[in-house]
Amino acid sequence: MIRDAVANVYLSASDLIYPLFVTSGEKICPVESMPGVNQLPVQDAMDTIERLAAKGLRQFILFGVTPQRQKDPAGQYACDEQAPVNQTLRAVKSKGLEVLMYADLCFCEYTDHGHCGVLHSPDEPAKASQWVVDNDRTLEILGKTAVVQAGHGADVVAPSGMIDGQVGAIRGALDAAGHEHVAILSYSVKFASDFYGPFRDAGEGAMQFGDRRGYQMDYRRVDEWRTELQGDLAQGADMVMVKPALTYLDIIHQVRSSCSVPVVGYHVSGEYAMLHAAGEKGWLDLRATALETTYAIKRAGADLIITYFAPQLLDWLSD
Ligand code: PBG
Repeated sequence: MIRDAVANVYLSASDLIYPLFVTSGEKICPVESMPGVNQLPVQDAMDTIERLAAKGLRQFILFGVTPQRQKDPAGQYACDEQAPVNQTLRAVKSKGLEVLMYADLCFCEYTDHGHCGVLHSPDEPAKASQWVVDNDRTLEILGKTAVVQAGHGADVVAPSGMIDGQVGAIRGALDAAGHEHVAILSYSVKFASDFYGPFRDAGEGAMQFGDRRGYQMDYRRVDEWRTELQGDLAQGADMVMVKPALTYLDIIHQVRSSCSVPVVGYHVSGEYAMLHAAGEKGWLDLRATALETTYAIKRAGADLIITYFAPQLLDWLSD
């Protein structure tokens, strides 16, 4: 009783954002390294959103799974009205569901090379040793894609590629197209992490060569996040993200105290997978450790938490 009476970190459905992988395939496809997570056809994604919204979960972030044949060097399929993210946004809006829809805005799910932006000399066969992201061209297509996602019904666009200048470019493009009310959640503080491994299976966005260290942060640097954060805030980010969450609780805490916009912690795929793996072996109690972990992210200072545990947390928190 006393423990409950003096507890002062709270977790509820309104803190949670649930990631969904939407596919143009026709079948629900389980993601092996993320038990309980599936690639969902549009209709199934809709059913999931409706079911969870009825239980009080109101925030969803969409990632697109793109068939290989639709991928190209510039990720143009992201703008296609048949792309599953765009279809799902339209379906949610036309049904009038009272939910907040975030659209991940990155090209790694759409490019044939798997990088988060357009590369220099895309006409030449990409060679592992000479790739480099063409920042300015990427900004241009990020702006265009944000406008398309907003047009299909995204309430928030979430650029996750750590491309320099992305927030300003997207804000400019959205405003010019009359989408002033669409917010930007920037993945401002994103570390180059091996904990993203299972996500790359789920999103089928693994790189064909190279790595993301050129545009994601090095975890051995203490203060680099300040520059990224200041840049994004100055360009108009409405919310900022720290990712991963569990291994970066110190950063969440510092980001929270150094800005006034909402801070989002992303409890990423590898962090989810490791709790599941230990739980399956009987080495850890899944429910207890998932709750403890999510509370820790909240306690560190996250206002919102993106987590694959969201549906289970709904049940566990109401038990
Ligand atoms: C792509 C993106 C990644 C994640 C979210 N958006 C992977 C990456 O940067 O390689 C990872 C999420 C997770 O691991 O759950 N820009």
